[in-house]
Amino acid sequence: MSILIKNGRIVTASDDYIADIYIEGETIAAIGLNLEHQADEIIDATGKIVFPGAIDPHVHLEMPFMGTFSSDTYETGTLAALHGGTTMVIDFVLQTQGKSLRHALDQWQGRSNGNCYGDYSFHMAVTDFNEDTRKEIQQMIEEEGINSFKTFMAYKGALMIDDGQMVQLMKEVKKHGGMVTVHATNGDMIDSLIAKHKSEGKLSPLYHYLSQPEVTEAEASGRFADMLEYAGATGYIVHMTCEGALNQIRQKTLRNQKVYVETCIQYLIIDASLYEKDFEGAKWVMSPPLREKKDQEALWAGLNQGLVQVVATDHCPFMWEQKLMGKDDFSKIPNGHPAIENRVELLYSEGVNKGKISVNKFVEVLCTNPAKIFGMYPKKGCIAIGSDADIVIFDPNEKHSISAKTHHMNVDYSGYEGWECTGKCKQVLLRGKVAIDNGEVQIEKGYGQFVKRGKVKEVI
Ligand code: URP
Ligand code: ZN
Ligand code: ZN
Repeated sequence: MSILIKNGRIVTASDDYIADIYIEGETIAAIGLNLEHQADEIIDATGKIVFPGAIDPHVHLEMPFMGTFSSDTYETGTLAALHGGTTMVIDFVLQTQGKSLRHALDQWQGRSNGNCYGDYSFHMAVTDFNEDTRKEIQQMIEEEGINSFKTFMAYKGALMIDDGQMVQLMKEVKKHGGMVTVHATNGDMIDSLIAKHKSEGKLSPLYHYLSQPEVTEAEASGRFADMLEYAGATGYIVHMTCEGALNQIRQKTLRNQKVYVETCIQYLIIDASLYEKDFEGAKWVMSPPLREKKDQEALWAGLNQGLVQVVATDHCPFMWEQKLMGKDDFSKIPNGHPAIENRVELLYSEGVNKGKISVNKFVEVLCTNPAKIFGMYPKKGCIAIGSDADIVIFDPNEKHSISAKTHHMNVDYSGYEGWECTGKCKQVLLRGKVAIDNGEVQIEKGYGQFVKRGKVKEVI
């Protein structure tokens, strides 16, 4: 199978030019002006932007969490991702405390194998670091191609590890060429604020927000960076939301400490005023919570300053019925919100169209940096000869609005209902096949492959 994409405006993290792309099999074979290759299929991309398939390095599909499962399966989640221009996701395996990493990986493979439309990989969440877990780290990196190890500084009793475990894990992971990532919030402070609010009868979603003030994230982010320095390692902070946490990292970079920072689309464009909508605020109950306008400004600036390298989603959807588990107690609302399908179009519309970031920065933070940081570049994350032909053909002028009535995620509301976007993914190619053509699915379930990742190199 061969495809020739004609006359598109090719945008990468560094370039912006008009050319043709010739695809043979699963990879890009040629890029140039007026290519004359004979192809099985020709796509006219005149007037369209052509960029690499986006990678979402932070999603939770079919994840057991807070007494239920996130509502997108590997099938529905990876398909919704493709509709929105995301050709690959990295999901999280969660170790059960007292059990092995292998045990958890078997469970996650059981749910995902053969069920994905889009390509995928796993981070391994280490929730119980001990001598047995230590022995599994090298095997995860070298045999399973899982090079990133997620940690939680919150969710005590289920997911949180202590600082002693954290530094030991950092050293072990670094020894074998991997990287530790973190949910950086101070779990003990948050738990005591939750208990305080509940004892005062303050039970609405607003108190989810008020139980996780900015300081809980800033303190943990700074502490994580200090532990990295002690361990001589590089790390990655997931879903950063606020100015205080970003300033902690800004400070640590002054002594040349490398800490990668991910934010998520929601923290850039929606804010904590949504928690004032009584129980409807449960739609946006996530951890950390939405913040203030000044935090959005700090994060947009952080992208341009190169302090924030990635925009992900932390896609963790729950049906409204599931959110109702916390109707009388905010601490029982399953944490998370849906965005896997909306990230690319929202970032273009709100970021590029509104002049907050350049179109090259858009590609860098959605495609290239996730591939580089997590050991998949240049197979993924770029348009180059030899790279996987994961390509989005995007109409920068098409207007549309987001709605649960038309989205493909398995969730019965949208956190962005009625949001007007300019710019739409028209065709999405995954490893040389047109996966989505004007909203129509062209591939079968199971086309998505597990991507084994290489050792982490300092590339950014
Ligand atoms: O609210 C969130 N973020 N849910 C998913 C789990 C996590 O902490 O990332
Ligand atoms: Zn988290
Ligand atoms: Zn998450």
